[in-house]
Amino acid sequence: MIVVKDLKRYYGSGETAVKALNGVSFEIKKGEFVAIMGASGSGKTTLLRILALLDDATEGKYTIRGLQVSNLPEAERSYYRLTQVGYVFQDYALINEMSAAENVYVLSMMEGKSKKEAYMVALEALDKVGLKDKPDRVPDELSGGEKQRVAIARAIAKKPDIMFADEPCANLDTRNSQQVLEVFKELNDKYGQTIVMVTHEPWHVNYVDRVITLEDGKIISDEIMSERGENNI
Ligand SMILES: Nc1ncnc2c1ncn2[C@@H]1O[C@H](COP(=O)(O)OP(=O)(O)OP(=O)(O)O)[C@@H](O)[C@H]1O
Ligand SMILES: [Mg+2]
Repeated sequence: MIVVKDLKRYYGSGETAVKALNGVSFEIKKGEFVAIMGASGSGKTTLLRILALLDDATEGKYTIRGLQVSNLPEAERSYYRLTQVGYVFQDYALINEMSAAENVYVLSMMEGKSKKEAYMVALEALDKVGLKDKPDRVPDELSGGEKQRVAIARAIAKKPDIMFADEPCANLDTRNSQQVLEVFKELNDKYGQTIVMVTHEPWHVNYVDRVITLEDGKIISDEIMSERGENNI
């Protein structure tokens, strides 16, 4: 699904350059649910942003489903990012003036779907995250966990090849975190959604197949938690 080879990302140049990623290589199979862990500043967000095509690597190559996305021209990168990559942010990044359904379907409409078609796609996605009864609520009328589930619905509505989440539970209490993690696990179990999630919390590893740990821009461990992902190659 994803093949990453010797990825490097330096900020600045010369002796003062920060080596945020300093030669990272790994493969992620279709249907895997992977956690990226590591101390603050170890390069987790940098890695996720590069893989989701939100940032460029300084060196190295990566392919998603055999497509060399690291070298795509910008127009194709934008199209790929919009249609094939789901990204969930720590702070939800919802539009406050829009209802849950509108937040989800705004992206489908950018793809050229009609409003009615986009609304149906949004309802289906909200159903998958357990929110089909709240399509008309605006973010202020939702709990933190519900807001994050709307953001997940927005990410899955386009049926992405791969979904990235950067500390999706960082602003949530334990109960809401559990609900969000259950949603990820169900998307992974039931629909085979490939997910790469950054987290700090050791208990979150109970939900994933595999844990990759970074330290100072390098992988220091890569541990399989179960063999679930093997069935979906
Ligand atoms: N735009 C930038 N300019 C310069 N240095 C940066 C920039 N973004 C990140 N860095 C540096 O790169 C390194 C990796 O940062 P990154 O945000 O990837 O860490 P992280 O593992 O996500 O940390 P956290 O757990 O705190 O979110 C850090 O040393 C950081 O200070
Ligand atoms: Mg980070």
